[in-house]
Amino acid sequence: MSYDIEKSVLERYEAGAKEHQPSLCCPTEYDSSFLEIIPEEIIAKDYGCGDPTRYVNEGETVLDLGSGAGKNCYIIAQKVGQNGQVIGVDFNDEMLNLSRKYQEEISDKLGYQNTNFIKGKIQDLKLPLDKVELWLKNNPINSLEQLRIFEAKCDRLRKEEPLIKDNSIDVVVSNCVLNLVKPEDKEQLFDEIYRVLKTEGKAVISDIVCDRDLTLEMINDPELWSGCISGAFREDLFIKMFENVGFNQVEILARQTEPWQVINGIEFRSVTVKAYKEKPKQNKKIDDNKSCCPPKSCC
Ligand SMILES: C[S@@+](CC[C@H](N)C(=O)[O-])C[C@H]1O[C@@H](n2cnc3c(N)ncnc32)[C@H](O)[C@@H]1O
Repeated sequence: MSYDIEKSVLERYEAGAKEHQPSLCCPTEYDSSFLEIIPEEIIAKDYGCGDPTRYVNEGETVLDLGSGAGKNCYIIAQKVGQNGQVIGVDFNDEMLNLSRKYQEEISDKLGYQNTNFIKGKIQDLKLPLDKVELWLKNNPINSLEQLRIFEAKCDRLRKEEPLIKDNSIDVVVSNCVLNLVKPEDKEQLFDEIYRVLKTEGKAVISDIVCDRDLTLEMINDPELWSGCISGAFREDLFIKMFENVGFNQVEILARQTEPWQVINGIEFRSVTVKAYKEKPKQNKKIDDNKSCCPPKSCC
């Protein structure tokens, strides 16, 4: 790779937090009743590609990977109610500031506060980046010895003060973010999703997939990468990524029939995938609105 992927993703979404970027949008329909209390700025700066919020339930603890302006979190906050909680993780200060800007206003409207926006990398959910930054202020790195001490500090933080603990989350959601993670970290990203979920937990991920391998030229284009194209998963491999780390019952819940974009003859579309950490028990209640029959006739 001839460029720094993380830097181009950070810069693109820093700009996206300041000004609405129409080119980053992949039109998505949300249940409008949940949008009423969400300020226009948050609704406008939506860079998602699907709607994973439909698949969460009352009382759950939900983790949103790459929470951006917070639209998905604020929808989920209403769905999980005051007995549930929503944690949004993002590594971009501008996006975190934007998501926190209306937190109090929305809590006042709801009558409860159940959202928390925290700084972290979604492929390293143990590392609390706020604490790392604070430590670095007092301990600048100017030598290999200081680098070694820094790395040891990070390891200690991961172990003793993890940002997201093992087996602590009911539902991990994400909306158009996994593709943005650099290739060498993608496997670890799926390991992390698996690690943080409770045994009965599930992941519901909306992301961009493609139908063929990309050309090297496309992969090496920072604009295409930060625009959710170059890091798109090949659809069959996306499902495999879940299965490889141990997920069960990996299922496509939604798939755009018409591609969002076609570049060099390659189709890019949004899919929403659900995967359970463990096989759900037979009598587990149907927990999403994709049931095949009206609720009354369900067993
Ligand atoms: C395409 S936007 C989607 C935002 C939000 N999910 C939505 O639906 O509007 C991608 C977001 O993920 C964040 N992001 C990208 N890579 C990340 C990473 N490795 N760790 C944490 N956040 C990341 C970006 O800062 C940005 O806010």
